[in-house]
Amino acid sequence: MSLTFCNVHFTQQPKRVVYVSGSLMKNLNLSGKKSVHLRLGQDRIPALVKPIYKPGNHLYLTAGIHKGIKIPKSGPVYLRNIQDGEVHIGPLIGVLSDGPTSSANNPFGSRTGFIKQLLKQGSKQSYIFAFTPRDVNWEQEKVNGYFLNEAGRFHRKKVPLPDVVYNRLPSRRAETTSSINQLRERFSRRKIPFFNWSFFNKSDIYRLLEKDTGVSRFVPESIMSPTPEEIKDLLDRHSLIYYKPNSGSLGNGIYRISHIAKSGYYARYRNKGKNALLRFNSFGSLIRTLQARHGRSLRNYVAQQGIRLIEIDGCPIDFRFHMHKNGRNNWVVVGIGAKKAGKGSVTTHLKNGGSLLTPEQALGRAFGARGDDVLRRAKSVAITLAEAIEYHHQHLIGEIGFDIGIDKDEKIWMFEANAKPGRSIFQHPNLRAEGKASVEHILEHCLYLSRFRRREG
Ligand SMILES: Nc1ncnc2c1ncn2[C@@H]1O[C@H](COP(=O)(O)OP(=O)(O)O)[C@@H](O)[C@H]1O
Ligand SMILES: [Mg+2]
Repeated sequence: MSLTFCNVHFTQQPKRVVYVSGSLMKNLNLSGKKSVHLRLGQDRIPALVKPIYKPGNHLYLTAGIHKGIKIPKSGPVYLRNIQDGEVHIGPLIGVLSDGPTSSANNPFGSRTGFIKQLLKQGSKQSYIFAFTPRDVNWEQEKVNGYFLNEAGRFHRKKVPLPDVVYNRLPSRRAETTSSINQLRERFSRRKIPFFNWSFFNKSDIYRLLEKDTGVSRFVPESIMSPTPEEIKDLLDRHSLIYYKPNSGSLGNGIYRISHIAKSGYYARYRNKGKNALLRFNSFGSLIRTLQARHGRSLRNYVAQQGIRLIEIDGCPIDFRFHMHKNGRNNWVVVGIGAKKAGKGSVTTHLKNGGSLLTPEQALGRAFGARGDDVLRRAKSVAITLAEAIEYHHQHLIGEIGFDIGIDKDEKIWMFEANAKPGRSIFQHPNLRAEGKASVEHILEHCLYLSRFRRREG
């Protein structure tokens, strides 16, 4: 396979011809060839090849070509010569998302800003568009995509099915519907790489890591759908547990339960935007209260050994490790935010009064000179965890947001793996560059998955 970066130009001629500059002819092994197949996404058309004398890598596409295959725009892009006589232009990258409205300016709700950032950066070296599940016409195998124009506005263009899909569907519930399952299956049947497959579920991840002896020590002891007896046993052994919904997020529905001898059982949780703390004389009355509040949905809860996190100013801190796969298919820690819990809060979420620090600030205050060493170790654990999840998972994963805790003994613990991690840590003034790097990594990994990056071996 050969891979070249080139400049695409459009001409008005009606004939179906691609004009190729001399050095590009050579790079694509086209010397002496009379015709090629030109491929964009999943579409392919035959065309005549003609050499032109011009320095540099240039490709001129006629109006005749444009009739058969809608190359989204002129400008810089990659060309890949897969087999004899087929030239793949692209990659054509699709970002799958959705929004609450059908508004033309804001089709992806609160994700619109991030999607625009991806499209803006990605258009420098690929054809990248965003789309919703409703924009795919499976009979025609076309997508009515949202491209970004020079002015930074969306404009619609019909293109073939893409070379790779980056999934940012926002709703956990929608993702389990049969129509979204069918959508994913349709991409996968056509061998179009699709990442990430779906939201993770806490117990699936704990189960998967538990059986891996290389990483199980980083996951607090967890019991899925525990009986009251099992909860009591876990609490007796650890005196602190977290009781949390499998598919929860943002700390919703989480209880921090502790037992203090001679004093009673305590449950901390978030209620109507406020921190609540209840005390019970007996374990039985605690369980009855939880059952009254949640009923059957407790079946979808996990009880987990509580970790006593390091603290700053008396508030616990934990960390978001934003992980990406890069253009060589390796995991990288791209950004780390330290999250300090709000006073009295069960979790460290910013929306529950938490605040954001850099990892160096947080670990320096917690461990002094040892901070650097702890950070280095935590990064290496995060990479090992990402590799393990990927290894045991059936589908492509290219991005993970880990919630990671560190205790006073410098032990590292993983609380949650997010397949569609939020981007709020990148708002921190010291983490802006990491936010950009995150976007770059997504694009690089799209190039890798669509085979527009050289692969080793
Ligand atoms: N086992 C645990 N021990 C200590 N703190 C925990 C534990 N589990 C969760 N937490 C705290 O609660 C926060 C939210 O938990 P998490 O599992 O990430 O659920 P959510 O889906 O609501 O984000 C974590 O970031 C951490 O601060
Ligand atoms: Mg979390």
